[in-house]
Amino acid sequence: MRTVAALLALAVSCSACEQDRAAVPPAERSGNRYTGKALLLSYGCVACHRIRGLPELSGQSGPPLERVAYQSYLAGLLPNTQANMERWIVHPRAISPGTAMPELGVSPAEARDMAAYLYQQVPP
Ligand code: HEC
Repeated sequence: MRTVAALLALAVSCSACEQDRAAVPPAERSGNRYTGKALLLSYGCVACHRIRGLPELSGQSGPPLERVAYQSYLAGLLPNTQANMERWIVHPRAISPGTAMPELGVSPAEARDMAAYLYQQVPP
């Protein structure tokens, strides 16, 4: 019983420290992550990226995004903020002309919702 309580305490404190280490803390996030989840699927982001809670496809030409909330930089170039995440999703090639990530015609509002999901991915 005591072990269970200790493990529970550990789990709770670790989820708190995960939140603390996020490059973009929950208070600085906006958008609807439920809409974002559906958009990530319909735009085919999962064809290149592994994202928690979404089906995994075979072609992994992009980096896994499961821990993107904890990275300091996006695409190795942009400081990780929600505004930069949205900019990247809307126009990756304006930021990095040679990138393999395509311009998919995502609107700024859609990018906001996608970013909300990417920063807080629902476990499968
Ligand atoms: C054809 C494959 C492909 C598709 C489709 C694609 N991406 Fe990417 N994405 C990439 C690649 C490759 C990179 C790495 C770019 C770089 O570092 O220059 C990347 C980088 C990213 C990053 C930064 C990741 C990091 O670790 O810094 C985000 C966020 C991202 N993509 C989101 C999306 C979203 C959202 C979609 C759907 C709208 C999408 N991607 C569709 C290939 C793709």
